[in-house]
This record gives sequence, C-alpha cells and structure tokens, in this order.
Amino acid sequence: MHKVTLVPGDGIGPEVAQAVQKVIAASGVEIDWEEVNAGAGVMDEYGTPLPEIVLDSIRKNKVALKGPITTPVGSGFRSVNVAIRKQLDLYVNLRPAKTFKGAPTKFENIDLVIFRENTEGLYSGVEHMVGEEAAESIKIITKKASARIVRAAFEYAQREGRKRVTAVHKANIMKLSDGLFLDTAREVAEDYPDIEFDDRIVDNMCMQLVQHPQEYDVLVLPNFYGDIVSDLSAGLIGGLGLTPGANIGDELAVFEAVHGSAPDIAGQNKANPMALLLSAVLMLRHLEEKEAADSIEAAIAAVLLEAEVLTADLGGQASTTEITEAIIEKL
Ligand code: NAI
Repeated sequence: MHKVTLVPGDGIGPEVAQAVQKVIAASGVEIDWEEVNAGAGVMDEYGTPLPEIVLDSIRKNKVALKGPITTPVGSGFRSVNVAIRKQLDLYVNLRPAKTFKGAPTKFENIDLVIFRENTEGLYSGVEHMVGEEAAESIKIITKKASARIVRAAFEYAQREGRKRVTAVHKANIMKLSDGLFLDTAREVAEDYPDIEFDDRIVDNMCMQLVQHPQEYDVLVLPNFYGDIVSDLSAGLIGGLGLTPGANIGDELAVFEAVHGSAPDIAGQNKANPMALLLSAVLMLRHLEEKEAADSIEAAIAAVLLEAEVLTADLGGQASTTEITEAIIEKL
C-alpha cells in the first residue's frame, strides 16, 4: 500500500482526479490517498491558495498527484504551481512527449523525454524597471543547478535504457550564462561514457523538432527554453490532453498534467483524463509499480487506436466518465 498526497485542484481537476483514482484502483495497485487541496477553491477557508497542510502532506508522503490549480488574482502568488516547485525544491520538470497511434497528430514514433530546469534561469523573478522606459529581467544560471538537472537527465537515460542526451542552449550569444550551462553539461556527461551526448542551439533545436522529432531522445534545457520546447513537443504529439508531467526533487515528487483548470468545460463531464492519467503512469513507475504503469499506458493506447470512445479535444463526443470506463475495460 502506497500513501500518496492527492491535490485535486480547481476546474476540471476534481473530475480528472477522480477518473485517475478509479483507473488506478482497477489496475490493482493499492493507494491510500491523502486528499488536501490548493487553489482558488480553498481561499475562503485558509486565506491562501497554498495552505501549509498541502506542503506538509507532500513532505510527509514524498509523492503527490496534483490536478490543475487556478491562481487567484491578488492572492500574493504569481503562481501556486511555481510556489510548490520552489518551496519543495523540485528542480526537475519532467515532460515526456510520446505519440500514440490514433492520436490527433501529424507525426508518428516520437518518444522524447524533456528535462527542464525548474528553479532558476529567467524565472528567478529578479526583474525591475530602470526608470520609466526600460525594464530589466535577470537570468541566473548556476553551476550547481545546471549540474543537478543534467545529472538527473543522464541518470534517467541510464535507468530507462535511453541512448542519447542532448543539451539545448544559446551559448553562442549568452556566452557566460548559457556557456556555463553547456560547460557543466559537458563535464557531467563525462561520467556517463555509455550514453551519447551532444548539444543544439535552441532555435535550431526547434526547427529540427518540427522537421524530424523522431531523431531525438532525452533533451535537457535551462528553465525558459525548457518551458517553450516542452510545449512545442506537447503540440507534436497531440496536445495538452495527452501530455503528462512531473516535478521532481531529491526526495519529493509531484506528478501533474500540464494543462490548466479549463474553466470553459469545468463541471461538465467533458474533460479528457488521459493527461493526468499518464502523469499517474509516471508516478506508478516512480513507485516501482512497473506492471500497472505498463498496462494503464497500453489501455490508453488501445482506446486511442480504436477511436470509438474519445473526448471532444480528441475529436470525439464521449464524456469523462465514458472514456474512463473504456480505459478500465481495456485494462
Ligand atoms: P487550460 O489548459 O485550462 O485550457 C486551454 C484549453 O484547453 C481550453 O479550451 C480547455 O478546455 C482545453 N483543455 C485543457 N485541458 C483539457 C482536458 N484535460 N480535456 C479537454 N480539454 C482540455 O489553459 P487556460 O485556459 O490558459 O488556463 C485556465 C486556468 O488554469 C488559469 O487559471 C491558469 O492559471 C491555470 N493553469 C494551471 C496550470 C497548472 O495547474 N499546472 C497550468 C496552466 C494553467
């Protein structure tokens, strides 16, 4: 029995979280869910969208599954999601992008895994006006943060039998900051002689991903490029409804879909639960429940391939409940 924190979130969060709980229960993996919530829905009760009990629960259980969270305007947070990552030092943003046959995309056979640095770079929040007509954002790159994200990418590659890690940067222009990231990546790569290492300049990387994404394997990027390239990759495989994600630190891991709370369809039983379910598949692998992870992924693939029970974002008319039942049937 695993104990896992569940943060259902706002909007479609509770609907897709419930769907995921049902599928995991059907897979035979026993999870004791500790449910706590964050976001706009808890503002009245706690006076903050990120109550301390949420962070405490994740610190205690070490693993969490999180639905999308709406950050209320004027709550003192730029983003609750960013606050969770920072407060728990979840420095890896893991974003796999894998095509499923039958999913709405122009590509086949993409199997990318993106490691985005989650704590610094252009997201350090060091930004100010210089007089009234200029503004300055400071990008911070440290050797420590660069080394740990690159090491995480290589460790993953080694564990999962991946062949190649590509570092993505703009060191030709930002010679000091991106230069430090690239030099550090090269140093770390020397510890993994069995895995091929190369690098790409970010603009060229974007072009190549759109032309022949199948050629790439594991990518590792500083925060800002990682943000953009991981969404570009989500687009390549069929969009937000199929894209999982995780934020991982040395001891703690929070698994979440990358889509938002979709207020336009919230409460209507229309949301696609596959993204959060694929995040839960990553979670099951993290919990060493490989068999259940493989069979849930195969059940999702079968439902997509059959293309009979699909939610609206995938071009169908099925409800959240119907697609969840179809996945459980395939299991
Ligand atoms: P969104 O991802 O919520 O929605 C964009 C479009 O995609 C909408 O048309 C929505 O209906 C559709 N969509 C998203 N997820 C879907 C799913 N699972 N199934 C079917 N359709 C889906 O992005 P938006 O509208 O920009 O943001 C809404 C709220 O979510 C904002 O408050 C934002 O701050 C928050 N947000 C939270 C995130 C998180 O918790 N990780 C990430 C992104 C946004």
